[in-house]
This record gives sequence, structure tokens and C-alpha cells, in this order.
Amino acid sequence: MTFLFLVLAIADCLFSQSFAYGVHGSHAHLFSEEVSNISFPKNFMWGYATAAYQLEGAWNEDGKGESVWDYDAHNHPDWWPAGQNLIGDVGVDAYHHTDEDVALLAKQGVNTYRFSIAWPRILPTGHIDNINQKGIDYYKDLIQKLKARNIEPLVTMHHWDNPRAIEDEGGFLNESIIPAFVDYATLLFDNFGDDVKWWVTFNEPKQTCGGGYDVGGISPQNIHRGTGGYICAHNLLRAHAKVYRLYESKYKATQKGRVSMVMDESWSEPASNSSADIEAAERINLMTYGWYAHPIVFGDYPDIMKERVAERSSKQGFSTSRLPAFTDEEKAEIKGTYDFLTINMYSSQLAAAQDEAPYTDISLASDISVTVYQPDDWEKTVTDWFKVVPWGARHLVTWIRDTYGDEKGIIVTENGYHDSGNVFDDLDTRGRYHKLYLSNINDAIYKDGVNVTGYMAWSLWNDIEWYAGIVVNLGHYHVDFDSPNRTRTPKASAAYYQQVVTTGCLVDTCEPSPKDL
Ligand SMILES: *[C@@H]1O[C@H](CO)[C@@H](O)[C@H](O)[C@H]1NC(C)=O
Ligand SMILES: *[C@@H]1O[C@H](CO)[C@@H](O)[C@H](O)[C@H]1NC(C)=O
Ligand SMILES: *[C@@H]1O[C@H](CO)[C@@H](O)[C@H](O)[C@H]1NC(C)=O
Ligand SMILES: *[C@@H]1O[C@H](CO)[C@@H](O)[C@H](O)[C@H]1NC(C)=O
Ligand SMILES: *[C@@H]1O[C@H](CO)[C@@H](O)[C@H](O)[C@H]1NC(C)=O
Repeated sequence: MTFLFLVLAIADCLFSQSFAYGVHGSHAHLFSEEVSNISFPKNFMWGYATAAYQLEGAWNEDGKGESVWDYDAHNHPDWWPAGQNLIGDVGVDAYHHTDEDVALLAKQGVNTYRFSIAWPRILPTGHIDNINQKGIDYYKDLIQKLKARNIEPLVTMHHWDNPRAIEDEGGFLNESIIPAFVDYATLLFDNFGDDVKWWVTFNEPKQTCGGGYDVGGISPQNIHRGTGGYICAHNLLRAHAKVYRLYESKYKATQKGRVSMVMDESWSEPASNSSADIEAAERINLMTYGWYAHPIVFGDYPDIMKERVAERSSKQGFSTSRLPAFTDEEKAEIKGTYDFLTINMYSSQLAAAQDEAPYTDISLASDISVTVYQPDDWEKTVTDWFKVVPWGARHLVTWIRDTYGDEKGIIVTENGYHDSGNVFDDLDTRGRYHKLYLSNINDAIYKDGVNVTGYMAWSLWNDIEWYAGIVVNLGHYHVDFDSPNRTRTPKASAAYYQQVVTTGCLVDTCEPSPKDL
């Protein structure tokens, strides 16, 4: 089994990854469980997030093409927990539950729904010469039904499910994916742009590229250690920039929407106040979140990343840096290609300085050369890398504001809690997790002045957690995977989250938001 790229903020959550944290004694970082009683602003975006492969099922119905996940589920059963590789074929069967699911979202009171469109459902071979109208009709129907309930769609164009046919051409390692993705995005703007005002091109490119093409952990696992991740990211960022500019020049004036990219980060807090550890934490945050945020905000990779990868590549005998360089034209094209900032967050860790990793080790992690670990006394969940660290949420959004600005707003595009066994939860686990993370986000808004404008819980349903199948659950609703109906039943967390989104208040009674006065 592979393990997940570095910081493992894998949102939607790989489970079977093993990751050895060094043991560095105990840093309790005990957080207070005092919960803010100031209301979130009235115009706050409250939502749920999900992704096509994790929910839809109907993997080959109505003309849908095969994605890399379908292909791997059918051809690499050993990448899944025993007997669970085919569970995504039917998934949560959202494809056949549009009315019921939109009604559940409305009942929960959310005003936003983040979902992804499956590229191979619309373009079965990945290319524009073969359009599947039934796929377009499915998403049109979903979007109409959401709008009828006053729920704004926030649409992800790519959430890891490349058409298999695109992968056969090299996927993100082949720059021919750029025009193919631009064609696909054009089709989406043409068909859905009148109703969709919030677009994101890619979900968690760090995982797409690190996991998909470098370290492993994400399909297609086309592993090129120390090079594949950078090449993938470069093509992905160029595709993102072209789609942003396309929207800006051809659609924005009439459709009046916003376009960005969804990035994930597991916050790295300095392990001590030594300048070496502070520098180490800054370096890893820049070389993971900043790998993508720096180009879309400033037009290029972080300096420290360019310097370190060039230096190590040279010592390793490469004639050029393993990190590709943007041309001046590309820098100008990519700079400023975001209309809002995003963060998928789950856990955090400490970062400590270490010696330079040996040059014989050609990898993304050794390019960073920072030791990360989670102290043993941090609160555990069922997943190794996933400790409950509410204060990390506040530090992370504050760092994003300090590094990239927040004048366009910062949306928490994913946050959620792991348990296992497809069981019902209680207010001491998932409900409490949301409460404490949201309280820290609330503090960031009111005590630190950070412009956080929305929050999407992952997710309404127990879903297909990629290679973890249904071993790990994050849903506010239980799903009966033994029933052909995939019956949805609310857990305690559903009631708590409903109360929060409908009142804007994390506790029983709140003070009004100063932003609404
Ligand atoms: C890259 O994609 C193009 C067009 O899709 C294809 O002709 C070419 O063979 C691909 N290159 C590789 C190395 O697969
Ligand atoms: C670092 O210094 C700050 C401010 O003095 C303090 O609050 C914090 O606990 C220190 N962190 C560590 C890990 O010692
Ligand atoms: C916060 O972000 C929103 C965009 O969602 C923007 O309109 C607003 O001006 C921002 N506020 C501040 C104080 O920067
Ligand atoms: C599935 O749903 C149908 C229609 O609502 C119902 O008649 C049937 O009893 C359900 N089956 C199960 C196993 O829940
Ligand atoms: C909110 O908390 C403050 C400080 O604990 C308290 O003084 C105030 O009465 C609380 N407000 C409400 C509406 O409960």
C-alpha cells in the first residue's frame, strides 16, 4: 500500500495510509473548550461539500465513460479494503436520488452545495468530440432543483476523476491535458454558467499531483518520485489559468460568477519558538499550500521552493530543476487567477527543523526537509494522521490572510470528522468537532479580523472514501449500503449542524454579529 503525500490533509480521506510521525516528546497544546457565542454574519455561506466519485454511483449508466477511479476499482481490488473495491460503482446512488438529496440539503438549511461534475459523465472519452447529453441533463436537473430551494451550487470541475482515456494519453503528465480541460470547462460554462455563480477548477491539486503522479495514494498512481508531482502541478496550474482567463474574457460580464481553485492544507505549527523551527514550519506551509496559492495569487512558485528544488536537482545531477519554470507570459497569465481563496482542513501537525535530507533521496518530502509529527497526547480519531486540532483552524486561516490577503474572502471548502463502522454519531464526537473548529474560525473572524466568508461541512452522507471504501465515515447522515435504496438516516451531528446553519450560533443563545449591526 502506498502512503499519502506528506501532509496527508487528504480531505476526502485516504484511510489505509500509514505515516510514521517521529516521536518528539509531548506538546500538549491543550485547547480551551470555551465556545464563541457571537453569531456568524447573516450572509455567511453555509454548505455541504462532496465529490462525484464518492457519491454518484451509476458508474457506467447513460453513456458515462470510465474514470481512473472506476478503472482502478475494477483492476486493482487490492488497493481497497477487502471486498469494497466495487462499492463506488453504485456509491451512495446520488445519481438516482436527486429529489431526496436536494430535500435533505434544504432540510438541513444550507444555502450552498459544493459538488463536482464528473468529467467522464459529460465527455466519456475526455474530448469535446463526444458529448454525452444525458450527463449534461443530469447536472442541469440537479442545479435547477438546488436553485428552486435557494441553494447556490458551488461546482468543482475536477475532483480527481480524470477520464481514463485522458490518462491513457499521460493524464496530467502530458500538456495535452490543458486544451482538453479548457474544452471541457467551455462546455460547462456554456451549459451551466447561467445558474452557477461559484466555480472551482480543481480540487486539492496537491493530492491530485502528489498522490496521483509522485508518491501514490490517489488514482491513477502513475508514480514518478520527485518529478511527477511537479510536472502534473505545472500542467494543472497552466490549465487553471487558461480556464480563469477564458471565463474572465468570455463569460464573466454576462454570467457574473467567480472562479477559483480548492486547495488543502494540514497546518504546520512550529514545534518550538526557535528560529529554526519557525523557519521549518513556514517552509513546509509554503511548499505545500503555497505550491498552488503562490502561482494563482502572485504568478510564480514560492522563492524558497524554486531555490531548494533547483539546488537539490543540481546536486542530484539533473541538468535543470525538477520544478518546471513558468515563462514570463505564463506568469502574467496565472497571476491573480482567483476570485476567492479556499481551504480544505482536517488536522494539523508540528514542524521541526532537521538536517538536509540526503541528496540520494529524490522526493517531494526531501525537497522540503522538514520533520512533521503529531504528539501522542493530541486527541485521536480512527485515522492515524487525523488528530483533532481545533486551534490549527484559526492559525491556518490567519496565516492564509497574512500570506495571501483576504480581500476576496476565504471559504472553508471542506471540514469534517472521521469515525468508522458506518455508525451513528453523538454530540461528543462529530458534533463537537464541528463546534470547536467553527469556534476557532469564529475567533479568527472576530478576534483576528480574518475575512472567512463560508464553511462547507464534509459531508451530508457517509460516502465512498476513495481507497478506504466505507471503512471511514464523515457523514451527518448514515447510509445503509446493504439496502438497494441506500437509505439515508440522520445522525446527531445532522441536528447540530442544522441548528448552527439556521441560527448562525454555535451554542444555545448568541450575541448578534458585529458585522450585521
Ligand atoms: C500526449 O497527448 C497527445 C494528444 O492527446 C498524444 O498524441 C501523445 O501521444 C501524448 N503523449 C504521450 C507521451 O502519451
Ligand atoms: C512561543 O511563544 C509564544 C509567545 O510568547 C507562546 O505563547 C507559545 O506558547 C510559545 N510556543 C512554544 C511551542 O513554546
Ligand atoms: C471579504 O470578502 C468579500 C468577498 O466575499 C468582499 O466582498 C469583502 O470586501 C471582504 N471584506 C474585507 C473587509 O476585505
Ligand atoms: C426501498 O424503497 C422502496 C420505495 O420507496 C420501498 O418500497 C422498499 O420497501 C424499500 N426497500 C428497502 C429495503 O428499504
Ligand atoms: C456571551 O458570552 C459572554 C461572555 O461569557 C456573556 O457575558 C454573554 O452574556 C453571553 N451572551 C449570550 C447571549 O448568552
